[in-house]
Amino acid sequence: MTSYKIGIIGGTGPQGKGLAYRFAQAGHTVVLGSRSTERAERTATEIVRRAGDAVSISGTDNATAAESADVVLLAVPYNGHAALVESLRTRLAGKVVLSCVNPLGFDQRGPYGLNVAEGSAAEEAQRIVPEARLVGAFHHLSATSLWSGAGLLDHEDVLVCGDDSEAKTVAVELARTVTGRAGIDVGALRLARQLEPFTAVLIGVNKRYKVRSGIRIAGLGHEG
Ligand SMILES: NC(=O)c1ccc[n+]([C@@H]2O[C@H](COP(=O)([O-])OP(=O)(O)OC[C@H]3O[C@@H](n4cnc5c(N)ncnc54)[C@H](OP(=O)(O)O)[C@@H]3O)[C@@H](O)[C@H]2O)c1
Repeated sequence: MTSYKIGIIGGTGPQGKGLAYRFAQAGHTVVLGSRSTERAERTATEIVRRAGDAVSISGTDNATAAESADVVLLAVPYNGHAALVESLRTRLAGKVVLSCVNPLGFDQRGPYGLNVAEGSAAEEAQRIVPEARLVGAFHHLSATSLWSGAGLLDHEDVLVCGDDSEAKTVAVELARTVTGRAGIDVGALRLARQLEPFTAVLIGVNKRYKVRSGIRIAGLGHEG
């Protein structure tokens, strides 16, 4: 397996922290980014406490995390996403940039997908940094499941979309660190328009059935 240096923007939040834990456990070097270096360092320490001293993980500011990594994961809320990506433009140019950002709203009727001018958060990031190699992935994994001490989430699939096949392969392979299986390449980056808001469906199911639901694609011959 190729070992990556992965910078996680917004790595102090539950989703960034959960994926960092899984990536680090699998032997990748992880650099957590934050608006506060101290917060990122604290989160890195928390992950080491859970994963053990052998993992390679550190905390720094978002710009340094993006600059120092070969693969960058955007794990920030949609609110503020465009400004943040804009601020990292030069650092993200030319890099494989994974996005698990879900633009969601919540009102009295529950969660729903927000309208995004570019179609999706991943396409918004691609518009802001045309030189970045944008990939949508990891939208449907629950942060709680990622951070749990449980083993592989082998009842779930990671769906991956993007326009750069080589960049997509990085996410397809990284999915193994979470599910134990390659991620599923669903097609072009514009399919993030379907992947991102689908999370609203999962959150609705979770609320109604008091579960942590996930996605598993049938028909690929990997059903157990
Ligand atoms: N939580 C889940 O279960 C889950 C599942 C799938 C996908 N996602 C998606 O993953 C992304 C992160 O989710 P999360 O729950 O971890 O989010 P979060 O806790 O709300 O935010 C993650 C981190 O982003 C930074 N941040 C917050 N507001 C920001 C702003 N305006 N500008 C720059 N940085 C900001 C914060 O780090 P600092 O304050 O340290 O900078 C925060 O710890 C979201 O887009 C979400 O839709 C989440």
